Amino acid sequence: MLPLEIERNDFGVKLNHLVSPAKPIQTVEQLEGRTKELARIEKALFAEGRHVFIYGNRGVGKSSLAAAAANQCQSVDAPYIDVSCSTDATFKSIVANIGYQAISASRLRKTKTTKNLGIEYRFLKAGMSSETTTYDLHDEIHSVADAGEVLREAAAIHSERPIVVLDEFDRLTSEADKVLFADLLKYVGDKKIGITFFFTGVGTTLEKLLGGHPSAIRQLETIELPKLSWDARWDIALKAAKAFGLELDEQTCVRLAAVSDGYPYYVHLLTEKLMWHVYEAPAVITTIEREHYVAALHDAIESINAELRRPYDMAVSQRTEDFEEVLWATADSDYLDRTGDDFFTSYQYVMKQRDPFSKRTLDSAAFKAIIKKLKSAPCGEVLVNSRFNRRGWYSYREPVLRGYVRMQAEAHGIELIGETQATKELRQVSGRTGYYGPSVPRGVHFGRRR
Ligand SMILES: Nc1ncnc2c1ncn2[C@@H]1O[C@H](COP(=O)(O)OP(=O)(O)OP(=O)(O)O)[C@@H](O)[C@H]1O
Ligand SMILES: [Mg+2]
Repeated sequence: MLPLEIERNDFGVKLNHLVSPAKPIQTVEQLEGRTKELARIEKALFAEGRHVFIYGNRGVGKSSLAAAAANQCQSVDAPYIDVSCSTDATFKSIVANIGYQAISASRLRKTKTTKNLGIEYRFLKAGMSSETTTYDLHDEIHSVADAGEVLREAAAIHSERPIVVLDEFDRLTSEADKVLFADLLKYVGDKKIGITFFFTGVGTTLEKLLGGHPSAIRQLETIELPKLSWDARWDIALKAAKAFGLELDEQTCVRLAAVSDGYPYYVHLLTEKLMWHVYEAPAVITTIEREHYVAALHDAIESINAELRRPYDMAVSQRTEDFEEVLWATADSDYLDRTGDDFFTSYQYVMKQRDPFSKRTLDSAAFKAIIKKLKSAPCGEVLVNSRFNRRGWYSYREPVLRGYVRMQAEAHGIELIGETQATKELRQVSGRTGYYGPSVPRGVHFGRRR
């Protein structure tokens, strides 16, 4: 029970406003730990013809940053244009979609912006004059110049400062369409068309996402989105607790932040479950402690979607229990890219917590054989060779899975993540904007030496 009285329905609504694991954040007020990125976007957009490309791992918060920043930059006379790429999206369908959204925004607003005076409409005219949307803009786009002109008209009727968010650009699979987009950006810049794009995409390099088109890349402010800092992870949980008059015990806060691996999705999910647990507890709770956190952890594991956890399930459905323990070891440490030897050190640590007298502990060779298997399809291809292309280095195919692996380990009583110093190799390869170094803040100790 909460210290303050609140109706179940009101509680649910209020909680959903504070944490939303399944929905990207829409406002900068709700966005934690992205001050630097927002400032970069703000500064970049002073330059005419500049667009923003936010890329990074799945679930790291790309759509949230794009939506919050778009809401901030878009003029108040219309909502920003929101296009999500599906696998069957094409260059033409996306441009047509932008056109349709501009038409419906202008219909809703009714009053015309000053910009649309003096424009000779060619593409959007039919849609603007008829009340139906059956008008097929798609078939009228035959070239990059046509698409550019659709955007010019869309910009004129949409709003004073139109922003387009093109979410999940990586799902656009056709290389030819990617090149067309790159050409379109160039066209928009050269012809001074007043529309700004915010792209998001899962990926580790921009070249892969945009097909390495140099002149388009020059027009982009590219933001490789790192995982959330520890402060931001804490702030999400602490703010939610405070909103319901609760205190959060420091150790619980540290565990929640550590287990999340910096993925806001897990922080939101764990916080949501934690709050429900407190709400439904028979006695009044004023401080959230470990026992509540452990209960929330089990609830969170249950509600993780099947697609995300499938590789884990596949790996642990192998014949022996060893796979699960080996897997936990791979999710230890703040670093995503690690060596087989480093995994093995983590494994020994896992087994010490598991059962200090166990005879089952694997030796290094048997351990590494399982690590190799974790790269195979029957084991869900959990691991891949490190992108640094060094022999004996591994990474996660889907880095967001590490959070789930950590939750599983923690639910089995194994606390992962230690304070480690960056290895020399990792320090050399970093120097990018992404997050590769240890993030454990000073003063936080896990009581563990390595
Ligand atoms: N900076 C942030 N502060 C607080 N919560 C965040 C932040 N970024 C993301 N979130 C939360 O984390 C969840 C995942 O974020 P989001 O959907 O933006 O990630 P994504 O990178 O677009 O994921 P995907 O790759 O699956 O599209 C969202 O539900 C959102 O509520
Ligand atoms: Mg997204």
